[in-house]
Amino acid sequence: MNTPRHLAIIMDGNGRWAQSRGMARVKGHERGAETVRTITTFCANHPHIERLTLYAFSTENWKRPKLEVEFLMKLLERWLKNELEVYLAHDVRFEAIGDLSRFSPQLQRTIREVEEATSPCKGLVQSLALNYGSRDEVVRALRRMVERHDPIDEAHLLQALDVAMEVDLLIRTGGDQRLSNFMLLQAAYAELFFTPTLWPDFSTDELQSILTSFETVERRFGGI
Ligand code: IPE
Ligand code: IPE
Ligand code: MG
Repeated sequence: MNTPRHLAIIMDGNGRWAQSRGMARVKGHERGAETVRTITTFCANHPHIERLTLYAFSTENWKRPKLEVEFLMKLLERWLKNELEVYLAHDVRFEAIGDLSRFSPQLQRTIREVEEATSPCKGLVQSLALNYGSRDEVVRALRRMVERHDPIDEAHLLQALDVAMEVDLLIRTGGDQRLSNFMLLQAAYAELFFTPTLWPDFSTDELQSILTSFETVERRFGGI
C-alpha cells in the first residue's frame, strides 16, 4: 500500500467558482483561502503526510489584471496573520517557496515572521508556493550551485531546489490537465490526479477518496 509523504496541490478554479455565482473573481480567492485551511488541517491530522505543497501564485500570475494581483497580495498578508494561530494549534510549520524578492517588503516581513513563529512546529510542513515557477526555481538552484561550487549531479540539484522532497501525489483541481510550471522536477514520479471540482468546493471527502485510489496504484519507478 502506498502512503503519501509529500502531497502537492495546484489549487485552481477560484475565479470560475465566483463567476459562476455572479460574483467578482476575487470572492473566489477568499473562499479558496478557507479551503486551504480545511485541507491543511486534514493533512496535519493524517498519519503519513509530512509535507503539503500548495500552488498559490505562479511566476506567470503577474500577467493578471493589476487589481486582481493587488487583491491577492492583500489577501495573502491578511490571511497569513490570521492563520498563525491555526498553524500553531495544529503544530504546522509554514514555509514559503518561490522567489519572494518580488513581493513588497511588508509582505516579505510577514512571511518571515510566520515562518519564524512556526519554526518549532514538528508536525506537517505546509509549503506555500508564492511567485513560484519550476523553471525559475531551477535557474535559482543552478545559481546557488555555482556560487557554492557544488558538484553537478542529481542529488546536489535536488538539494538546491526550493523543495528537495519528491512529490508522491499531485492533485490539480479546476478541470485542466496541465502542470502550469509546478514541481516539474520533484513530480518526476508523482501520481497525478485531476478533478473538475473547483478549488473552493474541494473537500476533505474528495481528498480522502483520492488518497484511497493512490494507496492501490502500482508505483514502479521504472522497474518491473
Ligand atoms: C487559482 O484560481 C488561484 C490562483 C491562480 C491565484 P484561478 O484564479 O486561476 O481561477 P480560475 O482558473 O480562473 O477559475
Ligand atoms: C496555476 O493556475 C497556478 C496556481 C494555481 C497558483 P493558473 O490558473 O495560473 O494556470 P493556467 O494559466 O490555467 O495554466
Ligand atoms: Mg486558473
